[in-house]
Amino acid sequence: MSRHTGSIPFTKEDLCNEAVTVLSKGRWANADLLLYSNGNGNWVVKDFSPCPSLVRRTYGRFMVNREVRALQRLQGINGIPKNPFQLHRLALSYQYIPGKTLKESKKEPVGSHYFLALENLVQQMHERNIVHLDIRYMRNILITDDGGPALLDFQSSLFLDKIPRTLHQLLKIVDISGVYKCWQKISPESLDDKRREILESVEKKRSLWVFKGYPLGTRLSRR
Ligand SMILES: Nc1ncnc2c1ncn2[C@@H]1O[C@H](COP(=O)(O)OP(=O)(O)OP(=O)(O)O)[C@@H](O)[C@H]1O
Ligand SMILES: [Mg+2]
Repeated sequence: MSRHTGSIPFTKEDLCNEAVTVLSKGRWANADLLLYSNGNGNWVVKDFSPCPSLVRRTYGRFMVNREVRALQRLQGINGIPKNPFQLHRLALSYQYIPGKTLKESKKEPVGSHYFLALENLVQQMHERNIVHLDIRYMRNILITDDGGPALLDFQSSLFLDKIPRTLHQLLKIVDISGVYKCWQKISPESLDDKRREILESVEKKRSLWVFKGYPLGTRLSRR
């Protein structure tokens, strides 16, 4: 039986007692991704506890905090994981979204309809003053079972509130070009000239940029 603390749908103690499966095992500075099911639905738990102590005490805590805050600000947008909360200092949780990552769907027909919806989702996120900065990585994007887009992994996101306004457009175009990059990889024939030109102009400048998602290309991928 789940115990509830305040408005939190479950506690870390519940994880020991009920069905948990591993979605993906972390490596060094990557969290473990668990799937937990209870009477309130299916939940993803992103847990940095198994990481080395240095990661837990610094990066892990910071990442959990940042991702929870970003997800909370984005609530209400279709395609954003719902009901995020901090489970404990080193773990957050949010609702599971049934679907496939864009990486897994690479060989399947995905057309302009999907990518226009993804572009729109990214614009809605920008209207809430958040940039994602890791949209090129196709394991961070889902095609849901309904055929729509969902955006995951706000670890490297940035709140624009305290960033100088002159940089906002540049950071937003990094995200938008990430959408076009995925579009070009998966369905190049459906990418129109206007968007292709934007992508090409960003690609030319990109080698000089710091904002590639992870500093200096040091993505700590589990694959
Ligand atoms: N809400 C969700 N619904 C469905 N699947 C999810 C959800 N959140 C995460 N996942 C799955 O877990 C994977 C990893 O999630 P996430 O990108 O947040 O972690 P990560 O530590 O950055 O991993 P990676 O290095 O693979 O990107 C996703 O690619 C996806 O398969
Ligand atoms: Mg990720």
